[in-house]
Amino acid sequence: MGVEIKESPVGDAEFDEMAAFVRDYLEASVENEDDGGRMRWYPWHSAEYRFTHILNVVDIGERIAERTGADVDVVRVAALFHDIAKLEADQETHAEEGARIARKYLETHGDFPPSFVDQVTEAVARHSYQDDLEDLPLEIRCLVEADLLDKAGANGAALMLLRMGYEARTHVDAAEMVDRVLERGEDAAARVESDAAESIAHRRLKRVRWLKEWLEEEVPGMDARS
Ligand SMILES: [Fe+2]
Repeated sequence: MGVEIKESPVGDAEFDEMAAFVRDYLEASVENEDDGGRMRWYPWHSAEYRFTHILNVVDIGERIAERTGADVDVVRVAALFHDIAKLEADQETHAEEGARIARKYLETHGDFPPSFVDQVTEAVARHSYQDDLEDLPLEIRCLVEADLLDKAGANGAALMLLRMGYEARTHVDAAEMVDRVLERGEDAAARVESDAAESIAHRRLKRVRWLKEWLEEEVPGMDARS
């Protein structure tokens, strides 16, 4: 009697190849568009930001999947493809479009089980889900939770402060901007269901609260809610 070891359908080299495909796809989306289309200089509209966000969601999604007993390969591959169409499609259609690209890639590279391909593409297609996360299949829930959490925390605060520069705000607004990140993070924390996601949210919110409090303490007149 032995323990059944489930072989992962996605090896490290295959995963790296997929990641390179996603990065190239995002860069091409920006290169192919006409000048003056979208604000690519804006922190989170660039291919570089989008790819970094994707890798963050892979990392957070893996951690949640491991701790909730979800299929880690489904979650990490779905996370990798979830925003692949974000720079070329509208917000309303990017999830469906991303699912189509993921299916085409997975069906033409390697030898992935059809059930694996179906699970990945369903997760990508449904990652913008807005209702109760309790109703989602486990793997999709891991992806949605990871996507919500990347924007909470120190990372969200850094992006918001960077955006202030583009908006020509002065640093006196910093605590107010960080407070917005905190509010958004609190909304995300209220939505996540798994204990794993809740504990990540809790840790990340604590960092943002500290940052806001430190700013208010060190800079006179910098009161977030004033
Ligand atoms: Fe995302």
